Amino acid sequence: RPHLSLHALDGLTVEEVPLARIAAAAGTPTWVYSAGALRRRARALQAALAGAGLRASVHYAVKANGNLAVLRVLAAEGFGADVVSEGELRLARAAGIPASAIVFSGVGKTERELRLALAEDIVQINIESAEEAAMLSAVAASLGRVARVGLRVNPDVDAQTHAKITTGRSENKFGVAFEDAPALYARLAELPGLRPVGIAMHIGSQITSGMAAYRAAYARMAEMAQALMARGLPVEHLDCGGGLGIPYRDEPAPSPEALAGAIAATLGPLGLPVMLEPGRWIAGPPGLLLSSVVLQKQGAGRRFLVLDAGMNDLVRPTMYDAWHGILPVAPADCTAALSPADVVGPVCETGDTFARGRALPSLQPGALVAFLDAGAYGAVMSSTYNARPLAAEVLVDGARFAVVRERQGFEAMLAGQQTPDWLAGGGA
Ligand code: LLP
Repeated sequence: RPHLSLHALDGLTVEEVPLARIAAAAGTPTWVYSAGALRRRARALQAALAGAGLRASVHYAVKANGNLAVLRVLAAEGFGADVVSEGELRLARAAGIPASAIVFSGVGKTERELRLALAEDIVQINIESAEEAAMLSAVAASLGRVARVGLRVNPDVDAQTHAKITTGRSENKFGVAFEDAPALYARLAELPGLRPVGIAMHIGSQITSGMAAYRAAYARMAEMAQALMARGLPVEHLDCGGGLGIPYRDEPAPSPEALAGAIAATLGPLGLPVMLEPGRWIAGPPGLLLSSVVLQKQGAGRRFLVLDAGMNDLVRPTMYDAWHGILPVAPADCTAALSPADVVGPVCETGDTFARGRALPSLQPGALVAFLDAGAYGAVMSSTYNARPLAAEVLVDGARFAVVRERQGFEAMLAGQQTPDWLAGGGA
């Protein structure tokens, strides 16, 4: 995490901005993203793909972090977008990502979303079923458009990641069965308003088990693409999905070079351009969640650090038993003696626990801590549970920083709530 450093006077610092300054300016809890780290990772991925001799386009998975400032940084690096909803499509366009670089994925796109995708003329819509093909065909034909369609195929490989984020097993809801894919692909070419342009696979997220699952999936993709082309069907490019894992703790995470190598070894011989949809690998490490200690409480044989961030802000530990590094921010706290603490939020749920028995110093109320690697699937998954407003988001770029999403106010949180006439007025 080269964007993070510890300074004797300023404490934990992102690029050139001490986190204490951000907390003073924006309050806590606050998400902090490093533009420099985003750019560095974007370039490292592109260099790895070019180094493996691949013609590749990167379509950043907006679901990982859809902040407009983050999207703008990545757009400037030449990234396209992988979107899964009307909202994400609009975000990508608002950040200046051209429609010609936007792919639409997802198992349940509505007719309204398909219409918008066609009106915007995005480069590819990945469909996941025969039912969806029929729906898209009808929508496209009614608009007099031709949809460029990718067929998402479920390769039935086990990505060996958390059960809640594996997608490429035959029992998962995603994609069409490998056996059914060739016939459906041929049908796509015959349906009005559709033009099949390629195959898509995404086998899961936070893949850290090496390249075996990727290789197995892409080998199946290569085999299928060849068979389709041999039948005279058009295959213009191959969508390799996302999933590249990052080391949250000390997992041996694969490098982008390893992924590029696996793609080159399996799909390279076809000579087709490939598309990638990374989310976490790009946006995870550049982000952190800055939080303050509300109080430190001594329980029966346990020390609890109660923070002002809760599971409504960062849900990954609750939802996936995920591990995030937690660092104190103040210089003195960084060198103080460590002892085990349970780090918890203020939400009224036992599940609102970020870490158990974590080695941390004794921290006074108001002390700052940072949750590391929280840039992906952090802010985007937060909620207002317990009527807690959404946290602020800050972008650091060198010595500069700016609030790129203000903390939600109570008025904004309650906006849209209405009292029906018959309840208004009070009393009996
Ligand atoms: N493409 C498709 C079709 C996807 O479904 C996903 C992620 C990606 C690309 C990007 O995957 P990535 O490179 O970020 O692994 N909320 C979970 C992760 C859910 C991932 C869903 N799909 C978490 O916090 O771990």
